[in-house]
Amino acid sequence: MCGIIAYLGDRPSFPLIIKGLKRLEYRGYDSSGVAVFENGSLNIFKKKGKVADLEAEASAAGLTATIGIGHTRWATHGEPNDVNAHPHFSSDRRMALIHNGIIENYAAIKQRLEKKGHVFLSDTDSEVLIHFIEDIRKETGQPLEEAVRIALREVVGAYAIVILSQDAPDQLIAARKGSPLVIGIGDGEYFLASDATPIVEYTKNVVYLDDYEIAVVNAHGLKIVNLDNTEKLPYVQTIELELEAIEKGGYPHFMLKEIFEQPRSVADSMRGRIQPATGMLQLGGLTGHFDKLVEARRIILVGCGTSWHAGLVAEYLFEELARVNVEVEYASEFRYRNPVIHHDDVVIAISQSGETADTLAAIELAKERGATIFGVCNAVGSSIARATHAGAYTHAGPEIGVASTKAFTSQVTVLTLMAIALGRHKGTIRDEVFTGLLEGLAALPGQIGQVLENAGKIKEIAYIFTYARNFIYLGRGLHFPVALEGALKLKEISYIHAEGYPAAEMKHGPIALIDEDMPVIFIATRDSSYEKIVSNIQEVKARKGRVIAIVTEGDELIPKMVDFVIEIPESHEMISPLLSVIPLQLLSYYIAVMRGRDVDQPRNLAKSVTVE
Ligand code: G6P
Repeated sequence: MCGIIAYLGDRPSFPLIIKGLKRLEYRGYDSSGVAVFENGSLNIFKKKGKVADLEAEASAAGLTATIGIGHTRWATHGEPNDVNAHPHFSSDRRMALIHNGIIENYAAIKQRLEKKGHVFLSDTDSEVLIHFIEDIRKETGQPLEEAVRIALREVVGAYAIVILSQDAPDQLIAARKGSPLVIGIGDGEYFLASDATPIVEYTKNVVYLDDYEIAVVNAHGLKIVNLDNTEKLPYVQTIELELEAIEKGGYPHFMLKEIFEQPRSVADSMRGRIQPATGMLQLGGLTGHFDKLVEARRIILVGCGTSWHAGLVAEYLFEELARVNVEVEYASEFRYRNPVIHHDDVVIAISQSGETADTLAAIELAKERGATIFGVCNAVGSSIARATHAGAYTHAGPEIGVASTKAFTSQVTVLTLMAIALGRHKGTIRDEVFTGLLEGLAALPGQIGQVLENAGKIKEIAYIFTYARNFIYLGRGLHFPVALEGALKLKEISYIHAEGYPAAEMKHGPIALIDEDMPVIFIATRDSSYEKIVSNIQEVKARKGRVIAIVTEGDELIPKMVDFVIEIPESHEMISPLLSVIPLQLLSYYIAVMRGRDVDQPRNLAKSVTVE
């Protein structure tokens, strides 16, 4: 939520910051701004709307500074407008701050400062923070770095901040708690950003700032201290991210590119994890902690949004294949519910970004209560990946479209491997089932490719239903979470109301909605629920619902009953959600495009939700 980029070096900072903000726009896109030194004074340009709007306005100023800070916002405090956009000035306009996160005790601090005569222009908590730092500087006469440290010791909440000050015009001060901040180290230049995407083009050497750390960057180099003023040696890591991975590569949208990347991303999620000779599964990140999984009394899967859906799929997998008790929890509910957690519980936190505030808080709670925490994350080095005891990266590559697609299939792939590895170890998977699963996984990338070849047909169906006002998605067993995920995809990017249900539950309410105007999507592949789902389809058809069915290739019965069919290849039942979800992603994508929606940056959403 909110993207931060700052630069210090020899290059003109404005174009570099604008480019960086565009890469970070997935984190928030309701307004943006930059602060740069120009002719010896600090200038701020801010604009409601997309980064391109800011670029158009500020370009005219002919900015040449080689130091600057930029921000793209997802509003929390105060509506998206020019004034609430970041950066924010201190009252003497000698300092500018960008902030990602929430200062929870801002109201109390604001009141104190107002009594001292501070006037606030915006409704944001962030402006309060820079005024607070300014006030401490004045009161104590301390240098900026020290004033930042004193302020942050009093602040409650989450932040990643960068400050530019007229008193030290060749220096950037940054800090983090709860919101990510990475520092790129180039040749005599520094890049500070919410993630590595704006940095990778210039350097692969990065330092991830930890919570409660302050970084000071200037001509002398990079200094890191914590809030107790203890200095820490920066730990420089090399990032593996390649530039192509964060560009559209000829596709009109990141979402479409990411949908079409799935044969590759799913293969990458499995790469090196299945020994071809023995069929043994090896998840390196679990080494040393696998026993905890084997001995687990219960597995609790936590996540939000699409990641929670991946958890629901995994519930079926772990129960069926490893015969272990499983619970799936919305991280936001789990963390506030005083849950009963035992030391022999294993929590698996699922997160694409690795930064979701509720998931992170759920992990901390479970950790405090003695559980072992595994992570299934996509973003390498992210906060969640670092907060867990062990884990397996999904290796899907950067996902930029706000609606998650390849991250979901990679999460499910990794969770499938974990469930198989556990079941195999516990002896709960028979040899022939094991062989079938491995064959299914090996065929998966090719089969996803086959589904993608059907895109043209799915586009035609999307055309017919472009202006539908509601959709119902139904599935049974492993396809129930897929139904939820299909409905979520449609809601997110087309703004059509859609609901996912277990198909049998339909009779307990949603059936009342069905008439000739209601499109109903059934995931009706040939598996253990086939006969049951055929009956459910009949119930909908009897009430004139318009049915689109995802069926197994060669099915002869369902195509005769329904209005439209989309075929997917036959696969092992435990693996089939990885195929059945693909047409639903494409259907949502095409409907959203046909409705003229902003597919990659749908309204009100953000990719990385770092506020609770
Ligand atoms: C946001 C995103 C979703 C994502 C969810 C959880 O709502 O828009 O696509 O599923 O956060 O994010 P995570 O990064 O933890 O998977």
